[in-house]
Amino acid sequence: MKIALVQFKPAFGERDRNVERLIALCRRNPADLYVLPELAYTGYQFVSAEETRSLADDLASPRIDAFRAAARELDATIVFGFPETSGGSVYNASLAVLPDGRDYLYRKTHLFYKETLYFAPGDTGFFVFEFRGARIGLAICFDWFFPESFRTLALKGADIIAHCSNLVMPYCQKADFAAAVQNRIFIATVNRVGSERREDETLTFTGESVLVSPKGEYLLRGPAEEEAVLVAEINPEHARDKSVNRYNDAFAMRRPEMYWR
Ligand code: ACM
Repeated sequence: MKIALVQFKPAFGERDRNVERLIALCRRNPADLYVLPELAYTGYQFVSAEETRSLADDLASPRIDAFRAAARELDATIVFGFPETSGGSVYNASLAVLPDGRDYLYRKTHLFYKETLYFAPGDTGFFVFEFRGARIGLAICFDWFFPESFRTLALKGADIIAHCSNLVMPYCQKADFAAAVQNRIFIATVNRVGSERREDETLTFTGESVLVSPKGEYLLRGPAEEEAVLVAEINPEHARDKSVNRYNDAFAMRRPEMYWR
């Protein structure tokens, strides 16, 4: 399976132009699975609930349809983050659109910083779907900080975590090493680049999108400040061998009965 990390710098609020540019980047880099950043086509730093709502989309939006059409055209799955409106709430969500017409929606479980003011906490929980023999799980940015997130996905059978991100702290790309090794899975953390100044605050995003293997190898690493599309071929089945050596299996020898006493 060819996986592409699409590291991007959205222009804040310019939704249609950002969607066009993201799809153009996918078209130039053939792959089976594209992972895009969190809030990939809106920008990140909302300054009010009204602004967040005004830039949010529901699943019938023409922008979501544009990604669905691109998935069909490219015969690939595209995973992207966006602000989703549903039933009067706004979620920080990611959507996997598949070439056969399936959609899988994830709503961010652990909101970061001022997201807590503008988004409702996600209610989908963690789940895994299958595409071309790979079992793919979704997570968004700060979810990484809670080891339960990737662990839950791994225990549910994920081979690859498509981790759409807008990281501002320097830790996650390093922490992915431990999470990949401990869970014996591939982790694709796809970050954005650039800075956003909104009102009196500037946030700078750390780039360096990474793809880490179940053995902790950094198969891909993006630049810190520029947009980039990074592509690697992986065998998702390598995530199914949880053995560490002849005597230790990372999953079979878990002892949950000892953990919560
Ligand atoms: C983050 O969750 N965007 C850091």
